[in-house]
Amino acid sequence: MTSPVPLVIDTDPGIDDALAILLALASPEVDLRLVTTVHGNVELAQTTDNALRVLHLGGRSDVPVAPGAAESLIHPQPERAGHVHGTAGLGGVTLPPSPVAADPRPAVVALAELLSTSPVPVTVAAIGPLTNLALLLRTYPAAAARIGRLVVMGGSAARGGNVTAAAEFNVWADPEAAHAVLTSALPTVMVGLDVTLPTVLGEEDIARFAAAGPVGAQAAAILQQYLAHARTAYGTGGVVVHDALALTEAIVPGTLTTVRRNVVVDTTLGAGRGQTLVDRRTVSSAATAVEVAEGVHPDAAVEFLVSRLSGLDALVGRSS
Ligand code: RIB
Ligand code: CA
Repeated sequence: MTSPVPLVIDTDPGIDDALAILLALASPEVDLRLVTTVHGNVELAQTTDNALRVLHLGGRSDVPVAPGAAESLIHPQPERAGHVHGTAGLGGVTLPPSPVAADPRPAVVALAELLSTSPVPVTVAAIGPLTNLALLLRTYPAAAARIGRLVVMGGSAARGGNVTAAAEFNVWADPEAAHAVLTSALPTVMVGLDVTLPTVLGEEDIARFAAAGPVGAQAAAILQQYLAHARTAYGTGGVVVHDALALTEAIVPGTLTTVRRNVVVDTTLGAGRGQTLVDRRTVSSAATAVEVAEGVHPDAAVEFLVSRLSGLDALVGRSS
């Protein structure tokens, strides 16, 4: 087996962020070296505490958590997503507190240090607003250029929005940051609503990892509010764990079918703010183009997630 790929997760936990972090911990293909937190679903202090608690749940409170931006670059995010993720961000579930504190370094410093010293390319999974990544590009461009793969959960090529008719939440939360990242020439995969919305975790899937042990049971408990929201908002009996699909692509490159497209973000203050304008007329050869995920095998992606999460208790048991 090849050596695990160093991984950083930039995140705003967040119910699906929590599942994504646990998925990374359950996957031997990657070595989670750093978590950086960002404002988004809830306030930065809460996303940071949530990240610490989720890592502790997964038996990995050794992974440093470095807090990043508390607000978007230019215009404040109009509202948080407590109505979806719960006011504390984890579906109303209170996980045991982590025994460790957040890393004293700001997110961009911790990320730049890791990127600058890693002997092998680092994969970065960005599953919240892209404020930290935009700041990295502007503050430490040489370090940013050392990113091996950037997998972004965000945007939409042809599925409209989820927080507005036009915009997906992560891009909408900081459109200026998203535009800077998606036009930066970093080796980026955009995992948007086109592939996340068809990938639905059903109640029977959740029951499988809930039965695996205490860690799986807590992960399933965190999902319950998402499930209730999905039933009322979409009338579906399942949940879309957007961030977990992005981490699946980060863990197993090629899980999703991508096409190289030019992408820009609407940063106006009108009804289209936060829309990702994906040019699907051509396959782009531009250096600033993005690999846009346009194809997914939902059943295989769900099975990968469920089987990995079902194995987490055994891993935690081994590491404790
Ligand atoms: O649109 C889905 C994204 O918004 C996910 O990252 C979810 O955590 C929310 O932040
Ligand atoms: Ca998120």
